[in-house]
Amino acid sequence: MGLFLQLLTVLVITVSLQGWLPLGYLEEERIALLHLKDSLNYPNGTSLPSWIKADAHCCDWEGIRCSSSTGRVTGLGLDGVRNEELGDWYLNASLFLPFQHLNVLILYGNRIAGWVGKKGGYELQKLSNLEILDLGDNSFNNSILSYVEGLPSLKTLYLGYNRLEGSIDLKESLSSLETLGLSGNNINKLAASRGPSNLSTLWLANITTYGSDFQLLQSLRAFSNLTTLHLYSNDFRGRKLSDELQNLNSLESLYLDGCSLDEHSLQSLGEALPSLQYLSLRELNGTVSYTGSFPNLTALHLEDNDFRGRILGFHNLSSLEELYLDRCSLDEHSLQSLGGALPSLKNLSLSALRSTVSLKGFLHLRNLKYLDLSYNTLNNSIFQNIGEIPPEIGNLNKIKALNLSHNSLTGPIPPTFSNLKEIESLDLSYNKLDGEIPSRLTELFFLEVFSVAHNNLSGKTPARVAQFATFDERCYKDNPFLCGEPLPKICGATVPPSPTPTSTNNEDNDGFMDMEVFYVTFWVVYIMVLLVIGAILYINPYWRQAWFHFIEIICPGEETLPRSQGSQSVQRDLEQGCQLNEAEVWKWWRLMK
Ligand SMILES: *[C@@H]1O[C@H](CO)[C@@H](O)[C@H](O)[C@H]1NC(C)=O
Ligand SMILES: *[C@@H]1O[C@H](CO)[C@@H](O)[C@H](O)[C@H]1NC(C)=O
Ligand SMILES: *[C@@H]1O[C@H](CO)[C@@H](O)[C@H](O)[C@H]1NC(C)=O
Ligand SMILES: *[C@@H]1O[C@H](CO)[C@@H](O)[C@H](O)[C@H]1NC(C)=O
Ligand SMILES: *[C@@H]1O[C@H](CO)[C@@H](O)[C@H](O)[C@H]1NC(C)=O
Ligand SMILES: *[C@@H]1O[C@H](CO)[C@@H](O)[C@H](O)[C@H]1NC(C)=O
Ligand SMILES: *[C@@H]1O[C@H](CO)[C@@H](O)[C@H](O)[C@H]1NC(C)=O
Ligand SMILES: *[C@@H]1O[C@H](CO)[C@@H](O)[C@H](O)[C@H]1NC(C)=O
Ligand SMILES: *[C@@H]1O[C@H](CO)[C@@H](O)[C@H](O)[C@H]1NC(C)=O
Ligand SMILES: *[C@@H]1O[C@H](CO)[C@@H](O)[C@H](O)[C@H]1NC(C)=O
Ligand SMILES: *[C@@H]1O[C@H](CO)[C@@H](O)[C@H](O)[C@H]1NC(C)=O
Ligand SMILES: *[C@@H]1O[C@H](CO)[C@@H](O)[C@H](O)[C@H]1NC(C)=O
Repeated sequence: MGLFLQLLTVLVITVSLQGWLPLGYLEEERIALLHLKDSLNYPNGTSLPSWIKADAHCCDWEGIRCSSSTGRVTGLGLDGVRNEELGDWYLNASLFLPFQHLNVLILYGNRIAGWVGKKGGYELQKLSNLEILDLGDNSFNNSILSYVEGLPSLKTLYLGYNRLEGSIDLKESLSSLETLGLSGNNINKLAASRGPSNLSTLWLANITTYGSDFQLLQSLRAFSNLTTLHLYSNDFRGRKLSDELQNLNSLESLYLDGCSLDEHSLQSLGEALPSLQYLSLRELNGTVSYTGSFPNLTALHLEDNDFRGRILGFHNLSSLEELYLDRCSLDEHSLQSLGGALPSLKNLSLSALRSTVSLKGFLHLRNLKYLDLSYNTLNNSIFQNIGEIPPEIGNLNKIKALNLSHNSLTGPIPPTFSNLKEIESLDLSYNKLDGEIPSRLTELFFLEVFSVAHNNLSGKTPARVAQFATFDERCYKDNPFLCGEPLPKICGATVPPSPTPTSTNNEDNDGFMDMEVFYVTFWVVYIMVLLVIGAILYINPYWRQAWFHFIEIICPGEETLPRSQGSQSVQRDLEQGCQLNEAEVWKWWRLMK
């Protein structure tokens, strides 16, 4: 108890000292933040409740990031703080000037239409350390470009979902730019008069109109150093992408998810983009047949498409390592050319397919490392022997992870599983497998994840040796006829185990008594601590605040994003997957936090 009081005293002294320490230049930034709050909330908003005048610790306020060495504000995450009902408005850029160490500024989703004051947006150019600027989902028109051009350190600029129109000219002064987001605008051309030579990532998703003067894709020729291009949710029917996307000799990743394409859109694309490694064609609007060659492609995403009656004639996929076809509808013809010629394939994901398909060929893919066949409860014939696991699966001897869960598979677990010597994860849960678990599975020495839960298996669980000593009851649960450790059911016992938890270790009485003493002591101390804290918080409002802040830090409610609940568009994009529009910016932001 004495120790406890000493600790409490130290804690109290520490907290009080922090409260009254002089804060120096930080005070200037703290006051500037309060001005910023007033401006964002004008005339009657209620955002940023944690920014309180009486609170000296502005680095702990929501949406603020400070340098751990200098204590200066380096990041402001002010997405969706403005009450949308207040309509478009003009912000005073001078309010940011006190933050000379600002590195990240996020103003996403605030309906800002422009800047007030004599110098207006040009004041932004004084933020010489700013590297990431997110002005997405506001009401800016093309004039915003002239203000951000002069930012000397700017690397990431996001202007998606604003009111940009027509031709966008990226000036020489944006020379340090590496990532640019222009999605969701009505633009038709991107000019680069000796523009950003280091530009590597460009977002041009969901462009809103495609008039006769739509030259957006052709105009990308000027950016020969692009490596990643996001074009999802666009209508490219009537366009041959290989003709339009020329000279992009460095392009490695291309996202065309959700696009409308036609038979010609993808023709010869592999030849036109020699460095392409990653191609994403998820959830296309009206799926097309395709025949073509992508010799250097390593990853192909085709999830959520209907390929029935169409041919996926990808030839020359000799470098392909990852293929994702989850939730697709396929038929015999769709995959005609795929199964045969994928010598490098390591990852194959075929979960939750929406149609019947024979995947006989895939079991010959001897280099497979990750195979996901989960959730195929439909009558597809992945498993030739009418729903049983084919013994040939033991030939996939390089496999590291195999997921056959949720499949209504019947019959026994083939003993050939013990040939999968490199396997690290084996999931056979949620099937109707019966018979015994082959005892030789214990020879799988790299197995880290294992589950046969929710089946009809019977007999004895594998010996508790090697990796199998680490698997607990959950790995075997819900197999009514399975017995042996770690299950409570003892093999050969006729009486079912009693519901009270019985342990096979002999726990002696002394141990039990110790526990009782422990509990009593614990509760006494616990209640006393509560009373003391309660009293302190009651007496001193500042500590009360500090305490609730502390609690917030330990148990954050929604910790993934800074205030993104306010902007549906961010939420939606994040739900759609990690690589959509400003997610990258958020990643930086989260990393910084
Ligand atoms: C805030 O002010 C706007 C415009 O003056 C008004 O339309 C709105 O009802 C006010 N909202 C609240 C919560 O007072
Ligand atoms: C762009 O917005 C500014 C306000 O920021 C406005 O003064 C200007 O007229 C707008 N330009 C066009 C072409 O709409
Ligand atoms: C903008 O903010 C600065 C600094 O707070 C202030 O001096 C200036 O008067 C403001 N300008 C306008 C037009 O409100
Ligand atoms: C482009 O990137 C290179 C390498 O990262 C860097 O040295 C160079 O300064 C950058 N150019 C500009 C204009 O920022
Ligand atoms: C591509 O990058 C190289 C080296 O950084 C640079 O010399 C060249 O000008 C860039 N090309 C373009 C079109 O920006
Ligand atoms: C595309 O933009 C429109 C309006 O700009 C929006 O309603 C729609 O949700 C966007 N689609 C995607 C996939 O972001
Ligand atoms: C593409 O693949 C071909 C043949 O496999 C190879 O010669 C070429 O260097 C590769 N191109 C790039 C840019 O990697
Ligand atoms: C999807 O395709 C249909 C016709 O096939 C078209 O009418 C519709 O506009 C397309 N949707 C989008 C978002 O491109
Ligand atoms: C495969 O690629 C080579 C060159 O990389 C080409 O000569 C051949 O025609 C391609 N085959 C098919 C079927 O496209
Ligand atoms: C394959 O899938 C695994 C597991 O999902 C993942 O860790 C790995 O990065 C993927 N890619 C390759 C090339 O193996
Ligand atoms: C699966 O096959 C059974 C018998 O062959 C049939 O009765 C059932 O309708 C099929 N289910 C589906 C979803 O195709
Ligand atoms: C297997 O797939 C199911 C469904 O997709 C998933 O819930 C489960 O976590 C996966 N198992 C492993 C071990 O990754």
